[in-house]
Parts: sequence; C-alpha cells; structure tokens
Amino acid sequence: MRLPVLVVNFKTYPSATGKNAVELAKIHQKMAEKTGISIALAVQAVDLRFVTENVDLPVFAQHFDVAEQGAFTGYVSPYSLKDAGAYGSLLNHAERKLPVDVLQSSIDLARSQGLFTIVCAESVFASKAVSELSPDLVAFEPPELIGGDVSVSNAQPQLIQDAVAMMGKGKVLVGAGIKTAEDVKLALKFGAAGVLVSSVVTRAHDPEKALEELLKGFL
Ligand code: G3P
Repeated sequence: MRLPVLVVNFKTYPSATGKNAVELAKIHQKMAEKTGISIALAVQAVDLRFVTENVDLPVFAQHFDVAEQGAFTGYVSPYSLKDAGAYGSLLNHAERKLPVDVLQSSIDLARSQGLFTIVCAESVFASKAVSELSPDLVAFEPPELIGGDVSVSNAQPQLIQDAVAMMGKGKVLVGAGIKTAEDVKLALKFGAAGVLVSSVVTRAHDPEKALEELLKGFL
C-alpha cells in the first residue's frame, strides 16, 4: 500500500453496507484512478469478499478475532479474511477496543497470514505503547473528536507532531473529524503517513464530492 494513504472506514453505516458498500467502493476506485492517490477501505467482515471482488484497492477488515481454523463458532478468523481477499485489518478502534495481550496476539497472527495491521490508539501515549507491539501502522484518533465537526488537525496539531516525533514519519495515520482538504494538508504537513476518515464520506449526500475535496489535500 502506497503512502500517504486515505483510509476510509465504512463502519456499519447503511450507506456503506452490502450493495451500498460495493457502490461506495467503486466510487473510491474511480477517484483513486482519476487522481493517482492511494486509497484504502475498511469494510465490515460480511462485506469483504463482495468488495474485494469488485474493486482493485487495498481492502481492510475493521476487526478480527484471535481464532484458528476449526472449532471457533462465531469468530472472524484472520484466515477467513485472507481468503476473502483482505489486504489487512484495523485493530483496536475506539469503537472496538482490545486488551493489550489480545492485541499483541492479533498482530502476530495477522503477520503470520501476511495481513497488514493498522492499530488505532486514543492518545500519544497509547500510540507509543501500541507501536511497541509492531503493527504496520498506528492510527492516532482522539475518541472525543470521532464523528464530530472539529478535526484532529485543527484541535490537536501538537499531538500529531508529538506522535510523529515519537514513532517516526511514515508510521502514523491520524483521524477523527477530518472533513476538508485543509485538514488533510495539515495532518500530512505534521508528518502523518495518511488519514483515517469515516463520516465525511459515509454520511455525505455526495460521497464523490466529499472524496474529491479530501483528495485535494494530498496534492
Ligand atoms: O476510523 C475512522 C474514524 O473513527 C473517524 O471517524 O467520522 O470522525 O471521520 P470520523
């Protein structure tokens, strides 16, 4: 996956579920082709295969369980993700947090299956702590800003710089409240390897237009 990257988390928004997930994914593919900017998606496990069969973008799961193949009823195993064409998985999102031992096992298991991990963290301190578990990328997202109108780039620029200073350039995505090209520009200027967004696209009346605006921040 090329960096910097725009990662769009579909969460469980109806506009980004089932057939709508595929339609929305196709809009992302069109915009990635038009602009040459790297875009990745994080979709519900149940939609993974449907999406990976319809677009040629890195597609992430939003979570998976530490589960082997076999007698693990109801679990989402990393083997199934891989089989469904997933590029990797988000882990430890503020809406799907994991105990640290489970997180470490998840990262190790993902790596053994060749799955890329983006591990979310709620603070600079937590970002540093999860980076020590060796994920591929850390995503710093202050939970109080998620889904809101104030972006992390505007509200906490110093924290983005602190996170990048601690972990190095190319290792940290930032997210929460990002809506505009200016938000993206600031995050990249402070050293972020990309941004993680959701509602700006999944709740937009015109997702293509919302994406167009965000992608201007990468130019
Ligand atoms: O995973 C991305 C997310 O938590 C940020 O959400 O709606 O603030 O862009 P949003």
